[in-house]
Amino acid sequence: MNMKRNTSNEREHWGGSLGFIFAAAGSAIGLGNIWKFPYITGMNGGGVFILVYLFCIFLIGLPIMICEIAIGRHTQKNPLGAFLQLDKNNRLSRSFGTVFLLIGLGFFCFGKYGLGGVFSLIAVIVYYFGWGFVGLGGIFTGFLILAFYGTVGGWVTAYIFKGLFQQLNFETVEEASQVFNNFVASPTSVLPYQIVFMLLCAFVVWFGIKNGIELASKLLLPFLFILLIILILRGITLDGANKGIEFLVSPDFSKLTPEGVLVALGHAFFSLSLGMGCILTYGSYLDPSKNILSSSLNIVFLDTMVALMAGFAIFPAVFAMGMSPDAGPGLALQIMPLTFNSIGDHLGWLWSSLFFLLLSIAAWTSGISLLEVLVTSLIDEFKFSRHQAVMFSTVITTALGVLATVCCTDWSRLPWLEKALVALFGSTNNSMFDLLDNISCNYLLPLGGLGTSIFVGWIWGTHHAIAEIRRGSHQTVDVNFFTLLAGLKDDPNSQEKTHTMTLATVWGIFIRFITPICVIIAFLHAIGWLHFD
Ligand code: TRP
Repeated sequence: MNMKRNTSNEREHWGGSLGFIFAAAGSAIGLGNIWKFPYITGMNGGGVFILVYLFCIFLIGLPIMICEIAIGRHTQKNPLGAFLQLDKNNRLSRSFGTVFLLIGLGFFCFGKYGLGGVFSLIAVIVYYFGWGFVGLGGIFTGFLILAFYGTVGGWVTAYIFKGLFQQLNFETVEEASQVFNNFVASPTSVLPYQIVFMLLCAFVVWFGIKNGIELASKLLLPFLFILLIILILRGITLDGANKGIEFLVSPDFSKLTPEGVLVALGHAFFSLSLGMGCILTYGSYLDPSKNILSSSLNIVFLDTMVALMAGFAIFPAVFAMGMSPDAGPGLALQIMPLTFNSIGDHLGWLWSSLFFLLLSIAAWTSGISLLEVLVTSLIDEFKFSRHQAVMFSTVITTALGVLATVCCTDWSRLPWLEKALVALFGSTNNSMFDLLDNISCNYLLPLGGLGTSIFVGWIWGTHHAIAEIRRGSHQTVDVNFFTLLAGLKDDPNSQEKTHTMTLATVWGIFIRFITPICVIIAFLHAIGWLHFD
């Protein structure tokens, strides 16, 4: 086999644009789309939430995705290496380090030793790495996300078999939730599936970019679409399904809350795999001749379509069976088997198994992308071979994931850890699982996205980023925004550049101002410093 060795000057590349789009869409399409998106839509008013989410995806998610791909492709490096290479303004990052140090000392003065320690550590890292801190933080975030992602990956994998063995034929909501609660509270039942899930991710990453990730994504994604379409057809042909469809397509603006807007924004990051260097890493395997702008549009489009399709697979069935759309996180794992079982065609077990197969495949291609970030960083920065890096990363993330599984609903199995966290930080989340989820999604991803957009907009500079994006897409990037809106792109008379409002200009304005401001607002809300009521 002539698999290219991954040395720093000979980086493996995707087979083509399509390979990149498939892999990145595989990363983006995951539990976020099929498990989370439907239930947060159900809890936030249906159609109107979808509308807001679409705004967030296109106005904030898309610009940041373009940023990440541009950084990755320009540097051909992992997140840490990429930020280090582009960081030319050390003095500014040093002053950030001083700010962090002062905050840390402040916490020490108030007896908050845990937070004081964390901020002082950040200060040291910022002094040492400058803007590389954003990349390093991203790698760390990916490590945390993959740990608890493996737990949920284990659940959905196990549920395929539970379905096949007729263990999901529920009659009542209580029965469904009892089975689910007992299952997640029993590490010995979850761990084997979690380890299988992690090994499946490791298996694909082992074979590298073209023969591993690209091949797996090209095989799995079409299969995922077929499964989704089967489930949608099953759902919308049930009697009473139209109420579910109505719920999704008729926005009721009275149900729009400021809270819902911010949930939508946070989810846009998670769903598109942004804010931690995942798409950046995939971008580093992209050839300069490929079009970043159209690739990003394709990835965002596919991700959004699957989220919407998941809505259409789930809500018509939920409404047809008279269930409530706002069941929360249990929607997929409790309500769906119940719904399938109550269809009354005696094939409930089959529909359930297919549904969880769909979830597992989606989770698999996302888990792969999270693992690849760690692997590529170890290869680039520590000169590991790919196989060593895969083994090492899988072992450490599975180890942290085991803690999340053992401590999934409360701390009762690791009381010393809870005590230690409370002693250091004053309080902690309900469980290790919640802690990992909360820290990474509510804090680290928005901060990573903010760091990335500020870095590209103000440090590396939009002019350098645009130069990178132009390679392979100059025809698209320099199209006049208004000419495009008016449908006159191919009109020979509007070619002369009398207006300067090109797509590049629009993107630059977003990345420097609109995107960072929106993220700051969402972040302040997430940490409870900003209320809208
Ligand atoms: N986007 C995936 C989902 O929707 C999860 C995921 C993969 C992710 N890579 C990521 C989330 C990087 C944040 C950052 O389930």
